[in-house]
Amino acid sequence: MSDSSTYTLKDKHILLGICGSIAAYKAAFLTRLLVRSGASVRIIMTNSATAFIAPLTLSTLSKNPVLTDFVDQKGNTWNNHVELGLWADVFLIAPATANTLAKMANGLCDNLMTATYLSARCPVYAAPAMDLDMWQHPTTRKNIQTLTENDVQIISVESGELASGLEGEGRMAEPEHILDLLQKKNSADHRSLTGRRVLITAGPTYEPIDPVRFIGNRSSGKMGLALAEEAAHQGASVTLVKGPTSLDTEHPNIRTIAVDTAHEMYKACLEHFPDCDAAILSAAVADYTPQETATQKIKKSNGEMTLSLKKTRDILKTLGQNKENRILVGFALETEHEEAHAQKKLLEKNLDFIVLNSLNDAGAGFQHDTNKITILDKDNKTKRFELKKKTDVARDIIRELSAYFND
Ligand code: CTP
Repeated sequence: MSDSSTYTLKDKHILLGICGSIAAYKAAFLTRLLVRSGASVRIIMTNSATAFIAPLTLSTLSKNPVLTDFVDQKGNTWNNHVELGLWADVFLIAPATANTLAKMANGLCDNLMTATYLSARCPVYAAPAMDLDMWQHPTTRKNIQTLTENDVQIISVESGELASGLEGEGRMAEPEHILDLLQKKNSADHRSLTGRRVLITAGPTYEPIDPVRFIGNRSSGKMGLALAEEAAHQGASVTLVKGPTSLDTEHPNIRTIAVDTAHEMYKACLEHFPDCDAAILSAAVADYTPQETATQKIKKSNGEMTLSLKKTRDILKTLGQNKENRILVGFALETEHEEAHAQKKLLEKNLDFIVLNSLNDAGAGFQHDTNKITILDKDNKTKRFELKKKTDVARDIIRELSAYFND
């Protein structure tokens, strides 16, 4: 069971830069604390940092490969500093040595870490660690001043015994203090759906033919789960109505209602929609269900078999007829005349916007970790997005939804 205090950095992308200082050993504790608080952690080390702590320790704790060079040691993977900079929600350099701080202050980018610093668009934090005299040197003071002016948030050094044997200022802040600071900063950040209640449907539905067989589809539920987590991360209280999928979430702000059939999903949505401010229906709901479900396993016979199907209720359309001032978002998965079909659904189902994915786009739709979407809205605006990871697509969709509340 998880409680919310363990998830204060839930889903935050934290890029941790580790420089060559004796304090690098503390980066192991820091990594563990960040991972425990729910963050995704990727690590860049300078080459000299690898002399102080083994990359294997950090890759094990972060559950991600540790990066040191622009090209990996086998020479066949390019570690793209621009992609890393864009991935990060926070770039934390801890420990930050006098050398790396000097490079950052002057725009030098002769290694993966400093090149990533120049590419990063997210907030950057540096936790310096060095000897007393290096910390007090006028050049270091000037570099710290420049970095502060460039919006790098310097995490105060602590005072005490230093590795040199000297006493004084220069120790890296303790990992617990760094975590505390990031958590406070994170909770103070504006969350676009704070106080909103959002209903989300995800996954396939299974329509039973008999006790062992059903009509289903290939939806994995990944897109809907990513939407639920992103909405919760933005402060919403989420009701997730989930068809049969092995995927799950432990986010404390998501209440999951597991259903099997289109009819069960219909009932759950109708029950919870009135309490919500918005709904995003991303489930792949069966349009037809068997007329009758056999109570016993159907035995094969010699002739052909015909299955009689009846239409299920259109959940999205029903919510559209009762939406009042709620925001309603639908999905459309199309194979031809994509935008025209999506536009028709947008109008017919009384939606605020519709998320279109086309099976003609490689990497989009069911079973993939990626998706390529187009958003069409009721004001006839169309936004086309690149192929992205489903978690990043979820951010785009939730950002679009948030704009309706923050207008
Ligand atoms: N949907 C729903 N209830 C259904 C069928 C679909 O709520 N019984 C929702 C889906 O969750 C999605 C949207 O409607 O948000 C579009 O579903 P889709 O199957 O693509 O469109 P349909 O309207 O069913 O039309 P068609 O299958 O003819 O393309």
